[in-house]
Amino acid sequence: MSECIISPSVLASDLSKLSSECQRMIDNGCDWLHMDVMDGHFVPNITMGPPILTWVHKNVPEIFMDCHMMVSDPAKWVPEVAKAGGKSYTFHYEAVSDHKEVIKTIREHNMKVGLAISPETSSDVITEELGNLVDMLLVMTVKPGYGGQKFMPECLPKVEDLRKRFPGKNIQVDGGVGKGNACQCAKAGSNVLVAGTAIFGAEDPKKTITEIRDSVNQ
Ligand code: DX5
Ligand code: ZN
Repeated sequence: MSECIISPSVLASDLSKLSSECQRMIDNGCDWLHMDVMDGHFVPNITMGPPILTWVHKNVPEIFMDCHMMVSDPAKWVPEVAKAGGKSYTFHYEAVSDHKEVIKTIREHNMKVGLAISPETSSDVITEELGNLVDMLLVMTVKPGYGGQKFMPECLPKVEDLRKRFPGKNIQVDGGVGKGNACQCAKAGSNVLVAGTAIFGAEDPKKTITEIRDSVNQ
């Protein structure tokens, strides 16, 4: 698999100065920025939406916005997120019944497509057909809704299964990831690591990003 991609979750940043927080992480060597969009309905929390993404994109145009859409109606937000500068649009398997329709809409808006599964969802729901329609599969390693939760290692067999069945796809892990378990995630087959608290909460984020990268590449 290709080099590991590190995508700090902005949920753990000082959201009152989001653009400069994103710039700070780019300066510290991250690859993508993970933008957690929550609607207060799919998950019991509200974060940000397209107006905020628009400003971040304006202020930090080089950013690769990896948008994690924890929303009940993912198709609805596709045009606005694309217009706001979203590069990748990950929606939840649990949110809709017609996955192909949402994927088609995301493609029509020229964004990469991600499909997420929550801890209670089996990787079996990702059929060969569905998995091959997307660019990235996201295995949540915490219950979606909040940052700073404890990593659930019991989700890793799903990463292994998806890596076996989709060798060429990006496989992302999200939730409680840090230097202590990054290696475990990579060994299971993940190549895109989201880390919020571990990176934004670090005294020296550059060092933490480097340590995560080194532990994965060793
Ligand atoms: C949880 C979010 C995650 C979370 C990650 O619902 O999807 O992206 O913010 O943050 P940490 O790394 O702190 O668990
Ligand atoms: Zn996330």
